[in-house]
Amino acid sequence: MTDRVLVTGSYGQIGTELTLRLRGIYGDANVIATDITPAPELLEEGGPCRYLDVTDPRQVTALAVENKITHIYHLAAILSGNGELNPQKCWDVNMNGLYNILETARTWKVKQVITPSSIAAFGPDTPKEHTPIDTILRPTTMYGITKVAGELLNEYYNQKYGVDARSLRFPGIVSHETEPGGGTTDYAVDMYVKAVAGESYTCFVTEETTLPFLYMPDALNALLELSAADESKLIHRTFNVTGFSASAADFADAVNRRIPEFSCEFEPDFRQIIAESWPRSIDDNDARREWGWKPSFDLEAMSDDMIARLREKETVVAANTENSGV
Ligand code: SER
Repeated sequence: MTDRVLVTGSYGQIGTELTLRLRGIYGDANVIATDITPAPELLEEGGPCRYLDVTDPRQVTALAVENKITHIYHLAAILSGNGELNPQKCWDVNMNGLYNILETARTWKVKQVITPSSIAAFGPDTPKEHTPIDTILRPTTMYGITKVAGELLNEYYNQKYGVDARSLRFPGIVSHETEPGGGTTDYAVDMYVKAVAGESYTCFVTEETTLPFLYMPDALNALLELSAADESKLIHRTFNVTGFSASAADFADAVNRRIPEFSCEFEPDFRQIIAESWPRSIDDNDARREWGWKPSFDLEAMSDDMIARLREKETVVAANTENSGV
């Protein structure tokens, strides 16, 4: 049987790039990209793009069955910042969405379900440095609560029903293709985007705020390597992964070294408290041991690549605008 992949939240920060990678692996026609908004140009023509509201169990099941889905990457979620603005919606999308996916997987014998968890699963009582997988999980955001509950739900479906559910606790993700939507770690991306556009930036956390991060190519590798990992070697079902830890000032300095005219101010808002409730660095040794995880990008390598890619994009946009006579 051909492997057929369903991606939810396909048009988001991770989903867009993951869908492109998966099309390369499984074949364009075998990856069904889904979301609740119109498909971006980047994905629209290359393979099937469908509407899917993950909170509707009938839609989830119908789409999975009609498309003979064998693997699901379930990325549809409300992130931490937006989650605090609308906690009820965050619960609905994150919990009912995952429940519907796992129920479909159980009923229709989907081979594997991969879901991102987050450093938001940790809370203010969690040790802040080199935080291991098994530690105090008492988050104070609705997003974090849904992530802890989601990790447990994944494990429950695995133990009780044999669903091959696997999960990664992602730190902040830095990327250039699709902007993040409503997370606490979005400031890191915003700094690079503004700097390349020749603009200044007002950062919504303090200079000292330090969190773990991962550059998108590493994040995609983590998802794909976890999916391919030999199940018999997995001791855990949920893994910590990290690339590097950096403060907001470290990011601003890294940008400044490359774009000296960039200026950044720091005016913390409600997301400061969220950021302070998360670890400064996490320990991903279990992922390294159990499935060979190894990130490639540190802050410097990420900054070089990020700025080069954003500049390439600007050049393409400028050329297109010129050609269209605007
Ligand atoms: N990047 C996410 C957020 O800030 C963390 O999982 O919400």
